[in-house]
This record gives sequence, C-alpha cells and structure tokens, in this order.
Amino acid sequence: MPPLSPKSATHHQAAVAQAECAVFRARLEPAGRNFDAPANLPLLQAAERAGLMLLASSCRNGTCRSCICRLASGQVTYLIEWPGLSAEEKQAGFILPCVACAASDVVIGPPF
Ligand code: FES
Repeated sequence: MPPLSPKSATHHQAAVAQAECAVFRARLEPAGRNFDAPANLPLLQAAERAGLMLLASSCRNGTCRSCICRLASGQVTYLIEWPGLSAEEKQAGFILPCVACAASDVVIGPPF
C-alpha cells in the first residue's frame, strides 16, 4: 500500500477516529426520550442533536451547574479534568451533561 498524502492521511485519521467512536443509548427522564450519545460528544449536545431541547444550560463548560442532572444508570467520562461538582456530588450520581460524555448506555434525569 502506497503512503498516504498528508491530506489523505488527515481524512483517514478522521475516518478511523469516527469509526472507533462508540455510540451509546441515552434516555432522558422523566420525558422518557431516547437519543444516541456518541462517546466523544457531551450528553447536552447529543440530546440537542436529537432535537431534545429539554436540558437547561448556560456556560456549557462545566462551571455554572445550571445543567446539573442525576445519572440514574450508566457511566460518563468528562471532557474537563474536574467539572464543577464536589466529590460527594459525583459519588451521589450528579453529572454536568454539558461536559459529560456517555461511557456506556445511560439514563439521566432531574437532580431531585
Ligand atoms: S451549562 Fe454550565 S455547568 Fe453545564
């Protein structure tokens, strides 16, 4: 196989990255709406991409906490090292979907 040109290599790397990105199933309660949640896209944006404009948001960078939700099931990873949640809140299942990406199928809901 001949070496890829720089442009082809870029397209190839993007295609490989996209092919390797898992897409999980997310469920938003209490609305009971399902949407695709790619592992590299914050849950807030994934929901909006699916037309679900049901989550509050403001800063979209993990600091204002207006999007806070509870993770009823599943796992998430964060785009930033330490989102605006205490260790206790994280332990209790609170997440910030503007910077949290699905790492499995997830169910999220209101923080109460
Ligand atoms: S929108 Fe500000 S923390 Fe999520």
